[in-house]
Amino acid sequence: MTSMYTINYALRAHKRDPFIEFIKGMLMTPFVLHAKPIPPKDDPSEKEHNGDDKSQMDENVARYCDILSSIEELIEEHIRKQNKGVPDQSRLKRLVPSISTFHTRLPLRESFLLANSKHSIAARRFVPPSFNDIRRILTTAQIIAIAPKLKLITFDGDMTLYDDGEDFEQDSKSVNLLVQLLKYDLNVCVVTAAGYPGDAKRYEERLSGLLKGFQTAQLSKKFCERFFVLGGECNYLFQCQENYHLKYIPESEYQPEEILSWRDDQIKAILDVAQENLQRCVDDMKLPCTVLRKSRAIGIVPKPGVKIFREQLDECVLSTQHRLVNYLNSPSGKQHKLPFCAFNGGRDVWVDIGNKLIGVQILQKYLGATPEETLHVGDQEMTLRLGANVVHYGLSTPKKLKAC
Ligand code: IMP
Ligand code: MG
Repeated sequence: MTSMYTINYALRAHKRDPFIEFIKGMLMTPFVLHAKPIPPKDDPSEKEHNGDDKSQMDENVARYCDILSSIEELIEEHIRKQNKGVPDQSRLKRLVPSISTFHTRLPLRESFLLANSKHSIAARRFVPPSFNDIRRILTTAQIIAIAPKLKLITFDGDMTLYDDGEDFEQDSKSVNLLVQLLKYDLNVCVVTAAGYPGDAKRYEERLSGLLKGFQTAQLSKKFCERFFVLGGECNYLFQCQENYHLKYIPESEYQPEEILSWRDDQIKAILDVAQENLQRCVDDMKLPCTVLRKSRAIGIVPKPGVKIFREQLDECVLSTQHRLVNYLNSPSGKQHKLPFCAFNGGRDVWVDIGNKLIGVQILQKYLGATPEETLHVGDQEMTLRLGANVVHYGLSTPKKLKAC
C-alpha cells in the first residue's frame, strides 16, 4: 500500500475503537428499521401502521436488548476460546479482528437498561445509539462485572484525574470518590507516563489536591498505605504514608528480574535514536519546541505560549515509532531491544522506556491481584487490555495517538 494510505489509516485507527463501532453498527439496524418518527396527529392511518408510542418504545428496548444479549454471547464464546488458548478462533475475533482480551464477561443488556432508564436511548427516533452511549454502556457493564472481585484499581493521570498538564485540584469531585475506594479496602494507584525519577516532591505537587483531600478526610495509616503512584509508565513507584506524603520505593523491592536487567546501554541507545528522530522532526517542521531528555524518557515540549498542531505531534510519534522499530529489528539494534512507547500527549510528544501494561503487571505482582481483579480507568491504550480490564472514563475521549 502507498504511504498515504498507511498514514491515513494510522491516524484514523487510533480515533476509532473498532469494538464500539461494531456495536454501533449492530444497533443501527433496529434504529433504522423500527425507531420511526411519531406520525402526525392528524393522520390516523399512519398511527395504525406504527402502533402506539409506548408499545413502539418497548419494542425498541427489546430489540436493543436482544442485540446486546447476542453480543454478550459472542464475548462469552471469545472468553472460552481464550481459555483454550485459541482466541483467534472465536466468532468475535472474525467480526472484530482487533478485539483484545476479556478478563470478565460483560453484562451489556443490564447496563443498557440502566443507561436507558437514565438517558432514554430507545426513545430517540432521530439520533441512533452513539459512540458515547456505547462507551458508557461498556464502562458500566465492565464495572458491574468486576465490582465483586475488584482488588486493584489504577488510574491514568493527565486527562483522566486532572486536566492535561494541570495538578489535581482539591475541590475535584474525584477526591471523595478516591477516598471511598480506599475505604473499601481497594488498592488504588495512579499510573502515569509523567516521569520524575525518584522525585516524590514533584508527584506530590501534581497530586497536591488529592493528598490534601486525604488529610481533610483524616484517612488512617491503613488506608493511606493502599494508595500508590507509579510514574514513568512503570519506572518509579511511590506509596502514600500516614503523614500524607509519598515515599519512594526502591526498585529492588518490587521490580521483577526482567526489568531490573534492563541495561543502561540499551536505554541510552533507544533514547539516542528517538532523540535524533525527534530533533529531525523539530527541524523539518520548524517546531518551536524544546527536546527534553530524562533518564528513561525523551520528549518534545512546546516553548511557552505555543500550541503545536495535532497532525505535527502525530507525525513526530509515528515517524519516531517507525524509526525505533526499524532500529530495534536491525542487526546492530536488536541487542538494545526493550519495550518502549511513543505517544502524543495532547501538547507534547514522549518516548518512554517501558509502558503502562508492564506498569500494571508490576503492581499486580506486588499487590497480589490478578488481571480479573484489576480495573484500569482512563487510558486509550489497547495493549493494556492484555493485562487488565479497561474502561475509558476520563475527561478525554480517546483521541490521542499512542503506539507501544
Ligand atoms: P498520563 O496521562 O498521566 O500518563 O501523563 C502523560 C503526560 O505526562 C504527557 O502528556 C506529558 O505532558 C507528561 N509528562 C511529563 N513527563 C513525562 C515523561 O517523562 N514521559 C511521558 N510523559 C511525561
Ligand atoms: Mg492521560
